[in-house]
Amino acid sequence: MARITLSAIKADVGSLAGHIVPSRELVKAVGDHIKANQASLGIIDFRLSTTGDDVCILMTHRHGADHPQIHKVAFDAFMAGGDIAEAQGLYGAKQDLLVTAFSGNVKGMGPAAAEMEFDERPGEAFILFAADKTDPGAYNGPLYHLSDPMYNSGLLLNPKTKGYRYTVMDVSHTGGDRVIELETPKDLYDLAALLRDLERFVVEKIEGLDGLPMVAVSTTRLHNIAGRYTGKDDPICLVRSQKDFPATGEVLAPYVKAEYVAGFMRGSHTGPLVPSKLGTKISYFDGPPKVTAAGYSMKDGKLVGPEDLFEDPFWDEIRRKAHQKAEYIREQGFRGVAMLPMDELEYGGMKQRLEELDQRFKIR
Ligand code: F6R
Ligand code: MG
Ligand code: MG
Repeated sequence: MARITLSAIKADVGSLAGHIVPSRELVKAVGDHIKANQASLGIIDFRLSTTGDDVCILMTHRHGADHPQIHKVAFDAFMAGGDIAEAQGLYGAKQDLLVTAFSGNVKGMGPAAAEMEFDERPGEAFILFAADKTDPGAYNGPLYHLSDPMYNSGLLLNPKTKGYRYTVMDVSHTGGDRVIELETPKDLYDLAALLRDLERFVVEKIEGLDGLPMVAVSTTRLHNIAGRYTGKDDPICLVRSQKDFPATGEVLAPYVKAEYVAGFMRGSHTGPLVPSKLGTKISYFDGPPKVTAAGYSMKDGKLVGPEDLFEDPFWDEIRRKAHQKAEYIREQGFRGVAMLPMDELEYGGMKQRLEELDQRFKIR
């Protein structure tokens, strides 16, 4: 069995009419660059998808994760897309490219990456989730529920599924990767205690207890890299499904909740995570936060798909509920839980205003 690597790398390098959707020409330029380098870099197959204003490149190859040439081709493809964005006057052209030249690995340069290397199974099935207008903590809930028989019935029905090993990252730590490993069901409450804090502790990967790679999440927090806010992180997540992993339907099941996450308007408000169709655009209040799910099969690295896993009419009902949740929280405006805590606000205006007001307070 030959090892195969899935590399999903995404960035927002400019979008049309605000933070809405990339232009067709931009997406084409990204794809053309990958295509031109596909054979020479040993990229077996690739696909592009868009979610809101983000473009995601999925590649299959045999070079392993964090391979400099694979990261470089993605970075340069985004640069080519960014050139088009500049030429077309798109909004936020090259905003996620925090450096002008690639060196080594896209992590730390703006684009987000989720990668997994494994022995391809017969009937290999996986899902690529991509979320816009939110941050990596948006996956905490759905990934926690992989260890919950209310969503993953395989934990009860499949005698081979004993639990999972989660790697959780403290994304507020900027001096290197600070991580902890926890095993479910043994450490389930410890996992819950950490994943409660969506902005600080995020799932980076999950393996079976036998060490088989199952989930990879991009954990980039752009404002931690850039030292200033450059937009929401808009995370991607790869999940292998079926056989000893959760079934595709079990992986999708927790998204019925349309949980409230960070990232609505100006990256500074709370909104429901809406399970959305591939290529979805952004409309209401620069959101609501959205997640797409592209389903794939694969043989020797050749991809079949994507199949849009949130297209079914079932998800129309969930979208209706999610949109209602969006309206409910918008009734709350700027108050309380509707707006994110001070450290998560995408602009300095609030802090500045409060500092000025602070000077005018008097002790009576
Ligand atoms: C994410 C996204 C948002 C924006 C934010 C502020 O895709 O678009 O996080 O970065 O809404 O953007 P500006 O300040 O450009 O309106
Ligand atoms: Mg954006
Ligand atoms: Mg985005």
